[in-house]
Amino acid sequence: MERIVWFLTGNAGKLEEARHHFASMGIEVRGLEVPDGTIVEPQATSLHDVATSKIQQALPHLPQEGGMLMVEDAGLFVSALNGFPGVYSSYAHETIGCQGMVKLLSHLVSEDPLQAKKLRACHFEAVAALWDGEQILYGHGVCPGSIAMELQGDGGFGFDPVFIPSDLDEHGEPLSPETLGALSTHGQTFASVSLETKHAFSHRRRALDDLLQQLPRS
Ligand code: IMP
Repeated sequence: MERIVWFLTGNAGKLEEARHHFASMGIEVRGLEVPDGTIVEPQATSLHDVATSKIQQALPHLPQEGGMLMVEDAGLFVSALNGFPGVYSSYAHETIGCQGMVKLLSHLVSEDPLQAKKLRACHFEAVAALWDGEQILYGHGVCPGSIAMELQGDGGFGFDPVFIPSDLDEHGEPLSPETLGALSTHGQTFASVSLETKHAFSHRRRALDDLLQQLPRS
């Protein structure tokens, strides 16, 4: 019998991405619908705790036919802001937005591009949590980069217009800001590159890959 993962997300793009990933393991991904107001965003300071709380809240809504349950949470962590907005990224995006983020960092400038990258360092981070019927497994993914001086590009979502990823090495692993790598957006933000390129850098993809490696092959 085919294994099923119920994915708690209102985002059709994320659902599609997860379907694509899990198909390679012969696992079917279905969206889990819960009544409005069922899941309360917890006041937690780590993505791990947010994801755990959402799994616990959603478990009673798992369909009778059974299956596994997955949630995924991500955020933007800016070094100069001590990791803010982190778990509050969607709220920060709704309130100050990309323009506000650029303004918050407007004092962090340098003639030296490398120094500017370091001053404006940040990373996207994602945690994918999966209840496998017995325990919660966690997948973790990080994408380091820096905040652009101004908004750039009109693709993507969230903080994509201000996020410039660090280059990747020939194995697809992220490098420190001073290192030029095999794959680079050449200073372009996530909002200016193709979805395929973003995928190569993506924290979300890394979190799903990490999770998949922990699942037994059937
Ligand atoms: P979520 O938990 O994946 O919905 O992410 C929470 C918030 O973090 C989003 O509303 C975005 O503001 C930001 N974020 C997370 N991942 C990304 C990304 O890949 N690009 C841009 N913004 C992101």
